[in-house]
Amino acid sequence: MKVLGISGSPSVASKTLMAVQIAVEHAGSYPDVSAEVLNLRDHDVVFSDGRDPAAYEGDTRAVIDRVVAADALIVGTPMYRGGYTGRLKNLFDVLPNDALEGKPVGLVATGGTDHHFLAIEHELKPLVGFFRAYAVPGAVYANNGHFAGGELVDDGIREQLRRLSATVVEFAARMPRELVGTDYPKIPRKSLNDA
Ligand SMILES: Cc1cc2nc3c(=O)[nH]c(=O)nc-3n(C[C@H](O)[C@H](O)[C@H](O)COP(=O)(O)O)c2cc1C
Repeated sequence: MKVLGISGSPSVASKTLMAVQIAVEHAGSYPDVSAEVLNLRDHDVVFSDGRDPAAYEGDTRAVIDRVVAADALIVGTPMYRGGYTGRLKNLFDVLPNDALEGKPVGLVATGGTDHHFLAIEHELKPLVGFFRAYAVPGAVYANNGHFAGGELVDDGIREQLRRLSATVVEFAARMPRELVGTDYPKIPRKSLNDA
């Protein structure tokens, strides 16, 4: 099983990346699980221009392929203006509509304080739902007070990240990917020129 952690933070020293790394490291401790982190900051993903996702090339193509190849995801974002980052949004904009279908997704968010905790529910979970993926219960939200000296120092949050990771792995192992319910209306992605 391939577990992919994604950090949508643009920061050089990122608390979100740190949290995602802890969860992914735990996922990698399970037998038959290969786990790695995709730090979007390290990749040159072009802005979505509405083309067919199959037509992206270069780093954008490589990032799309890694997401498509994953069996399960742990997605992290800092809160920016009460929501997820533009960088993460752009990743979801370039993905094929079926890139996450039937896959479990563990959600991690960080914020200056706890006051945007519910953005997990009204921003991130609908996004996961659009992709016909499963947001597993028990998303993790860490605030700046949980970090010190470049480390995640709160043992409670560390334990939550391990439990989130365990849930994602167990869910992916037990849930048949093809059980995704009924079809939504198809959304055309090609430009008029391609039609
Ligand atoms: C442009 C910008 C917008 C932010 N907006 C919020 C916000 O709406 N709510 C919040 O709790 N924190 C906000 N923050 C703080 C970050 O979410 C917080 O410091 C986070 O832990 C940073 O994560 P990172 O180290 O992975 O970049 C904002 C920070 C920046 C730079």
